[in-house]
Amino acid sequence: MHYNWLSVLSVLTGSLFILATPLSPLWDDMKVKHAWHTVPANWEILGHPPVGTTINLYLALKPHREDALIDALYEVSDPRHPKHVLSATFCAPMYSFVLLLRCRYGLHLSKDQVAELVAPHSDTLELVYSWLEHHGVPSSSVSMTHGGSWLTLTGIPVIQANDLLGASYRVYQHAETKDRILRTVGYALPAVLHGHVRTVAPTTYFGSPRTPQQTPRNHASRAAAALAESASGEVVKSLSSRMILSTPSYLRHLYNMMEYVPAATLQNTLGVAGYFGDYPRQEDLTTFMENYRSDGATATFSLIQVGDEALPNEPNHEASSNIQYTAALTYPTPQTFYSTPNGEESYLVWANYVLAQQDIPQTISTSYGGDEQDFNEAYAIEVCRLFAMLGARGASVLYGSGNDGVGRRPCIVNDGTGRVQFLPMFPASCPFVTAVGGTISDGPEVGAPLSSGGFSNYFKRPDFQDRAVLPFLQNLGNRYNGLYNATSRGFPDLAAQAYNYPFIFKGELYLTQGTSCSVPTVAGVISLLNDYRLSKGKHVLGWLNPWLYSDDENGAIGGLNDIIMGSNPGCNTAGFNAIVGWDPVTGLGTPDFGKLLQIIDRLP
Ligand SMILES: *[C@@H]1O[C@H](CO)[C@@H](O)[C@H](O)[C@H]1NC(C)=O
Repeated sequence: MHYNWLSVLSVLTGSLFILATPLSPLWDDMKVKHAWHTVPANWEILGHPPVGTTINLYLALKPHREDALIDALYEVSDPRHPKHVLSATFCAPMYSFVLLLRCRYGLHLSKDQVAELVAPHSDTLELVYSWLEHHGVPSSSVSMTHGGSWLTLTGIPVIQANDLLGASYRVYQHAETKDRILRTVGYALPAVLHGHVRTVAPTTYFGSPRTPQQTPRNHASRAAAALAESASGEVVKSLSSRMILSTPSYLRHLYNMMEYVPAATLQNTLGVAGYFGDYPRQEDLTTFMENYRSDGATATFSLIQVGDEALPNEPNHEASSNIQYTAALTYPTPQTFYSTPNGEESYLVWANYVLAQQDIPQTISTSYGGDEQDFNEAYAIEVCRLFAMLGARGASVLYGSGNDGVGRRPCIVNDGTGRVQFLPMFPASCPFVTAVGGTISDGPEVGAPLSSGGFSNYFKRPDFQDRAVLPFLQNLGNRYNGLYNATSRGFPDLAAQAYNYPFIFKGELYLTQGTSCSVPTVAGVISLLNDYRLSKGKHVLGWLNPWLYSDDENGAIGGLNDIIMGSNPGCNTAGFNAIVGWDPVTGLGTPDFGKLLQIIDRLP
C-alpha cells in the first residue's frame, strides 16, 4: 500500500495542522544504532556499488502499546492463560458462562486486529515522516504494513541511504559462495529517533546466504540409491550397520500417524518457506509420491514467489526434500511453497509478505537458520515479533534448530573479545517459533549428534519453560558455566528423525540429513492435528509453545516421546546430554500423533 504524506498524516492525526508546522528536530545529531567491530567473518569488501544503485529499506517502528501483541498472543495460545480460568484448570463448559466469554484460547486474530495491536503512535509516524521528508525521500517510495509497524522505503538511492543512516553501504562478497550483498558494517539514526525506530534492514545483518541451509546434501551413491529403492521394508541391512531409511511410511509409523485420514482439506494448508530463491519442481514431487506414497501420486503444491525477482533456473535440493515430506506425511492436505528471493533479508521479506495476506497457512515449516550472533539483537527481536504476529494470526511456525550441536567451531563470540561460547541459532532461539531438533535410531530414539540446541543470548526464558528447563539446568550443575546463558530461552522444543531421508531431485534419488528434515516431519504431524481440530469445527493450535510445555492433562507433554539418550557435541566439548524431561538436544521429545490427537480433542 502506498500513501502520500498528506493522506497518511491526515488519517493519523485527523488534522492537517502538523503539515503547517513542520517539526525541526536535530536530524544531524546522529547516534550509532548498531555496528560490528569488524567486517563479519567470511565476507570481503568488494567496494562501492555502481553509481545509481538503489536499495529497499525496511524500518520497524515502536508500537504504541508495547506489550499488546504478546499479551494477546498468550491469551489465544495458552490454554492455561489466567484470563481463561480461575485456578490451574481449563476454560471448559463446566465453568460459568461469564468465564467462557473471557476464554480466548484459539480465538486467533485477523490481519486488521494484529495491525491494530502493533501500530505505532501517530507521533512516531509523524516524526519518522518528517525525518524522511527532510532527506527528500518522496512519499511515493514509502509504504507501510501492519498498521505502520513496518515501513518500506522502495528504490532509495544508496547515496541517500548512506545519508539517512550515517552508513557506508558497500558490496560484500562471501568467501565461499561468492554471493554478493549490499550491506554496511554500522549504521546510525538521529538521536531523537532511537526511541521510535527499532531497527532498519538491510544494514548489518550479513548472514551467510548458503550456509544457513541445514541440509548437508549427500548425493546418494549408487549403492545407497539401490538400498533406498529396495526399501519397501524400510529397514535395510547395509554392509556394516543397520540403516534405517526415514521414508514417509517409516515416519508415519514411528510417529503413530499411519491411520489418520485428513478431513479438513478445504480449510487446512501446510506452508513451506524457502529462502535464497529455493523452490521445488512438481515432477520431482510426483516421482517421490509414486515411490513413497503411492496413494498420493496426484499431490501438487502451489508455488508462491515472494517479491518480483525471477526464480532461478534451477530448482533446489532443500526445497525439494522439504515439500516432498510435508506432502507425503499429510496427503491430501494442500501445500504452499514460498520462494523468497536470494540477496533479500529472507526472514523479514518472507514474514512481511505472509502477514500481508488475509489467509495464512495454519502450519509453516522452515528449514533455514543461522548463528544468533550474526543477527544484531534489535533486528533479531523485531524478526521474532513478526513470528509472534504469525502466531497471533493462528499459524504454528516451525524452524529447524540447526546442525551444529552446541555450536560450530571455533565458537568465537563476534564482539571482538575473542571469548568462546556455545553459539545458539536463530530463529530457533525466538520463543515465538517452535524449534525442531533431530534424533537418530528407533529402538529407542536417541538425540542426534548434529542436533543444535542451547540457550539464546537475546530472548529471556519464557515462564512456560521454567518447569521444563530448570530441572535440566539443575542436573547440569556448573558444567559449562560461562559457555551458555542460563537465564534465557532454551531450544529446541521438539525433535524428529534427522537421518537418511531419501528424496527426488531432478529425477534422481538423494539421501539427506539434518534438522532440515526433522522440521517438515514435525510440521506434518502438527498440520494433521490442525486438520483434526478444523474437522471438528474447532480452532487450530496456532503458536504451540505454551501448550507444548504445559504438563497438566491437557498439555502436550503426555503425547510426546521423551528422548533420554544422546548428546550434541560442538565447540570442542561433548555438548549437552539428552535426559529425562526437556533437554537442549531433543527438547520435550518426538511426537506421538495418536496420543496428541486425544489430548487436543479435550482442548477448548
Ligand atoms: C543472557 O540472556 C539475557 C536475555 O535472556 C541477556 O539479557 C543477557 O545479556 C545474556 N547474557 C550474555 C552474557 O549474553
